[in-house]
Amino acid sequence: MPKELIAVLDFGGQYSHLITRRIRECEVYSELLHFNTKPAELQRLNAKGIILSGGPASVYDADAPKCDPEIFQMKLPILGICYGLQLMVEILGGRVKATNRHEYGKTDIRILDASDLFRGLSGSFVSWMSHGDYAETLPDGFEVISDSANCPTAAIRDRSRKLFGVQFHPEVSHTEHGGEILSNFVSITNCARSWNPRSIIEASVEGIRAQVRNDNVLCAVSGGVDSTTTAVLVHKAVGDRLTCIFVNPGLLRKNEENVVMRILVEDFKLNLRYVDASKQFLAKLRGVQDPEDKRKIVGEEFLRVFEEESSRLGHFPWLAQGTLYPDVIESAGSGSPASRIKSHHNVGGLPEWSRFKIIEPLRFLYKDEVRKVATELGLPRELVSKHPFPGPGLAVRVVGEVTEEKLRICRDASAVVEDVLTKSGLYSSVWQAFAVVGDDQAVGVEGDHRQLGHLVTVRIVNSSDGMTADWTKIPYEVLEEISSRITGEVRGVTWVAYVITSKPPSTIEPC
Ligand code: XMP
Repeated sequence: MPKELIAVLDFGGQYSHLITRRIRECEVYSELLHFNTKPAELQRLNAKGIILSGGPASVYDADAPKCDPEIFQMKLPILGICYGLQLMVEILGGRVKATNRHEYGKTDIRILDASDLFRGLSGSFVSWMSHGDYAETLPDGFEVISDSANCPTAAIRDRSRKLFGVQFHPEVSHTEHGGEILSNFVSITNCARSWNPRSIIEASVEGIRAQVRNDNVLCAVSGGVDSTTTAVLVHKAVGDRLTCIFVNPGLLRKNEENVVMRILVEDFKLNLRYVDASKQFLAKLRGVQDPEDKRKIVGEEFLRVFEEESSRLGHFPWLAQGTLYPDVIESAGSGSPASRIKSHHNVGGLPEWSRFKIIEPLRFLYKDEVRKVATELGLPRELVSKHPFPGPGLAVRVVGEVTEEKLRICRDASAVVEDVLTKSGLYSSVWQAFAVVGDDQAVGVEGDHRQLGHLVTVRIVNSSDGMTADWTKIPYEVLEEISSRITGEVRGVTWVAYVITSKPPSTIEPC
């Protein structure tokens, strides 16, 4: 764990995560916390500054989420964003009022004072606004430092208490100079700008050593960048007391096992035990249709195999996993208004029968941070730039029952999608690209014969962390190449479709 942080209290705004990410881009560690996190906890975490996020509520709603008013007595710099500004005003004795003109979208902001928060800026800039309420009367000690046509209090400040509020969203890319404004807030907190791949590695190695002491650690590797980075980090911390297990559940991407074995065994000289458990997994999945049931079965089966293997290998109290920060937030939430969407099998604790204690060195990192750490650790580019892959593997890309036939189609068609994107130079610019297969069938023509075959659905999305995603506007020629190669090279496919929904309302994976 880093030595200090800027805490973002989450009032349920759709951009809350972005705030944390932007602060980390300033090389300062930041965490998204429950809106009612108590001062004692903030002190324990060594918070040097607090940001109150936006949120959909109005401060006068009966069930409006409120922070503990005592945080304003902690003498820490605080920045309220949108709802966060209004809440600060309301708690400190000002008044918030509903406007009759909602401001939504790009709005010009006029800077009235370019010292602290707006240091380095002048004149006016375009910001992203989304609000119905505004601060009509400011609490004692506050002054206005920017305004807009419809909001006389677009940014406010109490200089002596280092309290700031902005009605617009500096964290979204539509706000010009948003990064500079947040960076100015970071400077006001006096946090050291030392959150970078090297310091992340040092802090995690230290953390792992302190946690596991002289025990042995088992690391579950899956072939992706997260678990491989976890293994290399744990190896740095405990050396030969680490043993990796690569369980092949029969649900991997094409050639995945070969790549990871080469990197971990040949390049990094790690102890690795390969277990082919594909028959066992597929037997457990036979007849199972429901996505959540499939996730649970795969998750539990993984753990069962680890338990069996580890008891053969010796005494391993610890199991290392490559869980990332968005997985933690999305499965369990920051405890805040965000709702639980899918149960990621590797998050949220272990079943009662498991005797493992878990270490998750990447639990606080976003994917792009993991990739930077992986590069710093010397992992090869082919692995670092590899698209994320869900823990339950192809079980969540095969819709309905998982059968050998559907798995083959899904695996081979996904390999085609990846290959075409790589050859068109698009692979690294998209977040994920894969094929999905279910039970839908469609008629095709082969030679002179009508033939009933599978419908394959191609999903390609852009995203920065998997929490939201846009469907990728792939050039038609590339789509055409994907389609003709899939129908030409993957036996049993007659139709190819492309997904044109974003997340939300969809999710990235089909199950
Ligand atoms: P969804 O489908 O929820 O996916 O929009 C968001 C991101 O998470 C990955 N994903 C998972 N990762 N275990 C994982 O480790 C899971 O059960 C799981 N489900 C989805 C998905 O690939 C995407 O990057």
